[in-house]
Amino acid sequence: MLISTACKIVAETLFKIGEHIKPGITTLYLDRLAERYIRERGGIPAFKGYKGYPATICASVNEEVVHGIPSRRRILREGDIISVDVGVQYRGYYGDGAWTFGVGKVSDEAKKLIEVTKASLELGIRCLKAGVRIGDIGEVIQEYVESQGFSVVRDYAGHGIGKALHEFPQVPNFGRRGTGPVVEEGMVLAIEPMVNAGGYEVELLPDGWTVVTKDRSLSAHFEHTVLVRREDAVILTQI
Ligand code: MF3
Ligand code: CO
Repeated sequence: MLISTACKIVAETLFKIGEHIKPGITTLYLDRLAERYIRERGGIPAFKGYKGYPATICASVNEEVVHGIPSRRRILREGDIISVDVGVQYRGYYGDGAWTFGVGKVSDEAKKLIEVTKASLELGIRCLKAGVRIGDIGEVIQEYVESQGFSVVRDYAGHGIGKALHEFPQVPNFGRRGTGPVVEEGMVLAIEPMVNAGGYEVELLPDGWTVVTKDRSLSAHFEHTVLVRREDAVILTQI
């Protein structure tokens, strides 16, 4: 399946980026690395040019939630956390994935935020199979995140994905069981909880892209593209 290849390239790119994250490097360096790797594998960076987005990856540091624009002025420091979002188009099919990394040694709160966000994605994926409703995923993610004392971003959601980066249905990370569209066998979904250490409110910076937490608390983001089957879902953005 072509979409599996797109997703494989996403996973490999995130792995590669993870190997290079350390204090002193810039987010632009990570962007260059990602673009080179994606093109070497025969893919096309899916975000570049999307609604005018200028880069290959989104690199969102600390209180930045999503859509941080890579910059040579943004130097990673020990204790930062960085969410990296990667989208790849391969022969017309899209894959989308994100991972939050700690830079060197991070605080206990940051560590917990990263772990909870990752686990919330896993819980969301685990409840997926043909016949469940989109609201089931949101409720599972929201309930777990809030039980850990964190909050789920409301203004951005996961999405269907395939021949376009964003397809039906929207997949919010909050909601109520038994509501929303029915998930069908064969659907490919990008599930992507964004979790804030403080309140759920976010705001857009004047650059028109970078989304930050309103209270400037830390935020983490994990995303997988998954294929829904009759009895479960398989993660495609995995090496
Ligand atoms: N994973 C994000 C999304 O699904 C990345 C989009 S970044 C953009 O919306 F630059 F392409 F907008
Ligand atoms: Co996405």
